[in-house]
Amino acid sequence: MNKDLFLIKGLGGKKKLNGTIPVFGAKNAALKAMAASILFKDDVKYENIPFISDIEMMSEILSDLGAEIEKTGKYSMNINSEKAKKTELDRNLSKRMRASVVLTGPILARFGEVSFPHPGGCVIGERPIDMFLEGFKKMGAEVSEAGEKYYIKAKDGKLKGAEIFFKMQSVTNTETFILAGVLAEGKTVLKNCALEPEISNLAEFLIECGAKIKGVSTATIEIEGTGGKLLESKGKVFKTIPDRIEAGSFLILATLAGDNIEITNCEPKHLEILIDTLRRSGVKIDVEKNSIKVSNNGKVKNSSLTATNIKTHEYPGFPTDLQAPMAVYLTQVSGESVIFETIFEGRLNYINDLARMGADVKVWDSHQAMIKGPTELKGKELDGPDLRAGLAYILAAIIAKGNSVINNVHFVDRGYEKIEERLQKIGVEIERVAN
Ligand code: EPU
Repeated sequence: MNKDLFLIKGLGGKKKLNGTIPVFGAKNAALKAMAASILFKDDVKYENIPFISDIEMMSEILSDLGAEIEKTGKYSMNINSEKAKKTELDRNLSKRMRASVVLTGPILARFGEVSFPHPGGCVIGERPIDMFLEGFKKMGAEVSEAGEKYYIKAKDGKLKGAEIFFKMQSVTNTETFILAGVLAEGKTVLKNCALEPEISNLAEFLIECGAKIKGVSTATIEIEGTGGKLLESKGKVFKTIPDRIEAGSFLILATLAGDNIEITNCEPKHLEILIDTLRRSGVKIDVEKNSIKVSNNGKVKNSSLTATNIKTHEYPGFPTDLQAPMAVYLTQVSGESVIFETIFEGRLNYINDLARMGADVKVWDSHQAMIKGPTELKGKELDGPDLRAGLAYILAAIIAKGNSVINNVHFVDRGYEKIEERLQKIGVEIERVAN
């Protein structure tokens, strides 16, 4: 883990960023597709992979399991998991990344057993795994716990298809049980599935490679298992969708501090809620097939934009991962906005730091806060608390008056590749200092 920090010279409310900023591949799609390599007997080829620290961590976990990973280009890699045979997830690595839990589905389905620690990741709430354990039991597995580890064993070494109703829509549960269902014996029916595009990205690739999955992008997904027969990709390529959270954060930045900014290599269809919310608040946004433009914005006063309430929701609702960047937006527009974070109870922790920068904020409880704008933000030294809030601090520092220091850049590096280089190209004065 690096101890780098960012030094940012604030624009003091001036809107003068210009140029083009590209969006890289989606972390939360790439990580799950890497986990899916366990289902394959041949090489899986990946494109549009963001080379961020979470991808490195997933590569390390897979290598530890016995997979062979080769970086084949700037944004591409191959994974061959044929020789993987270890069924125990490395404790230290898995405790650092929530996405590691997705490996439990394919490992259990292929080898009949898996053991793992409680998965880690950003501290944004309790993040239980009860639904994973319940689902595996439904598929005929026995679950035990010892020494801070979970041990799961399929009866007779084979997972059985089952009907699983998720009590809450969950991204990683939906993905894990799609992967488990693909190799299980018989039919698996998943109900109340999450609808995030990263899930469809994964499922559509599996279908291309021969998996029998119906109902992708709907709340009920049916999988006809192969009974243990591994998939073959036969050279097909997993193309990672663009990161909608990165694109959305750039759009918020373009609105607050940009004159003419074009966000390229993105998928605007995955950002409808943000685009709609910003337009209702008064922002002029031009949407093209794979890009979003905010043009001639330099003369638009942020105070002429209006407050808007935000309630986070599963896709296609407002993403919890954009809640913190959006809070920065709300500090600059006129009126009172309420933020209601419905998914994670720890995801408003950053807000007191925005208050330290000068935002007018009232926190009602761990899920709700009110922001009154517009207020001038002042540069400060800030300790990024997690990946998405870390990026929100960068946005706040860019629009603030004076200089800011953002510590804990390693959180930002988990999800955003070379963010400072891309920001510098549109005119942000940001510098990484190795510490
Ligand atoms: N939940 C349970 N039991 C479980 C699993 C989840 O109660 O067994 C609850 C969670 O506590 C939460 C809700 O279900 O209240 C939904 O959580 P979900 O399982 O969807 O979250 P996740 O799969 O752990 C993924 C992303 C997050 C993103 C959320 C919501 C990955 C690796 N992570 O998390 O991304 O915020 O979906 O969209 O895909 C990030 O990238 O920074 C990040 C945190």
